[in-house]
Amino acid sequence: MSTKELMKVLVTRRIPQEGLDVLTNAGICDVSVWDSDEPVPRSELLKRVQGAHGLFCMLSDRIDTEVLDAAGPQLKVISTLSVGFDHLAIDEIQKRGIRVGYTPDVLTDATAELTVALLLATARRLPEGIQEVKSGGWSSWKPLWLCGYSLSGSTVGVIGLGRIGLAIAQRLKPFGVRRLLYTGRQPKPQAQEVDGEYVPLDTLLRESDFVVVSCALNPDTRALCDKTFFSMMKKTAVFINTSRGAVVNQEDLFEALSTGQIAAAGLDVTTPEPLPTDHPLLTLTNCVVLPHIGSATYSTRGTMVKLSVNNLLAGLSGDAMPSELKL
Ligand code: NDP
Ligand code: DGY
Repeated sequence: MSTKELMKVLVTRRIPQEGLDVLTNAGICDVSVWDSDEPVPRSELLKRVQGAHGLFCMLSDRIDTEVLDAAGPQLKVISTLSVGFDHLAIDEIQKRGIRVGYTPDVLTDATAELTVALLLATARRLPEGIQEVKSGGWSSWKPLWLCGYSLSGSTVGVIGLGRIGLAIAQRLKPFGVRRLLYTGRQPKPQAQEVDGEYVPLDTLLRESDFVVVSCALNPDTRALCDKTFFSMMKKTAVFINTSRGAVVNQEDLFEALSTGQIAAAGLDVTTPEPLPTDHPLLTLTNCVVLPHIGSATYSTRGTMVKLSVNNLLAGLSGDAMPSELKL
């Protein structure tokens, strides 16, 4: 195939060389990469996407009508290096007959592990403890110092018992969780594996000691966790979110945390990302914020890249994708 006949592919971030090699060696595409660890600026994205047949993007790239128009009608496939797809204008993409590849399953274990780590760090106040050791605040063993909340004998509520929600529940149960509640659009047969009880959201909030958000971001879940939501939670409850920042109204969360409406929160995702260093949430000792590292293990990221590359190549060739989002 001559260079002229190669399909144009834009990769919006530096990815491991092995991934690029697979793309290039397939011999069907001419690959251009935004060769940086930082996101491609919007103006560059709009310029570089022109004429692309394939777009390999990240969750931080907003792929909307403007980008699709800039790309042009030849765009066949978008492959996102994520399982979440709230950054993609799905209706418009569907209208244009563009196929979408994503990365379900391969990051489930890593994200569930991180969620458990964040939950324990938040409930047992690990960042505060570490800080006290470093600052000299540790004067002696004290009966009531740095006490937190235990999973043993607790009720855990999971909002969105999908792939990751279930994997979180499976990992939490062996800590001695007494009841596992969940809510969502409908009961899930797989809930049996964790003895999960399907309950309405308000019941889950009133009865849970730990509330874990693991749903997708969609119109129903955007800003779901607001003043009313937090007002239904126990004062001793811990709130954990590893889904998307926009599920939470952060002003209401700040209010709930600073007034003692809830005990603590652990967030792996925020709005915006990165969260500005002077953000009010970062002034609170009962709020633990991580920089969106749910899937960040070496092996998981490697597998995600491979899957995304294979999704892209299959989409370009018109073949079945290993993981195609059903639109
Ligand atoms: P799934 O599609 O398997 O699970 C999403 C769940 O959300 C489904 O069970 C769905 O329920 C539920 N849901 C949708 N709407 C609602 C609603 N209104 N109320 C309650 N539940 C709802 O996806 P995954 O488990 O693979 O991933 C979940 C999300 O986790 C991703 O969309 C992404 O945003 C986030 N994520 C974050 C990571 C991180 O690094 N922090 C890493 C990976 C993912 P139903 O089936 O009934 O619609
Ligand atoms: C996703 O895949 O949606 C995560 O947010 C990053 O792995």
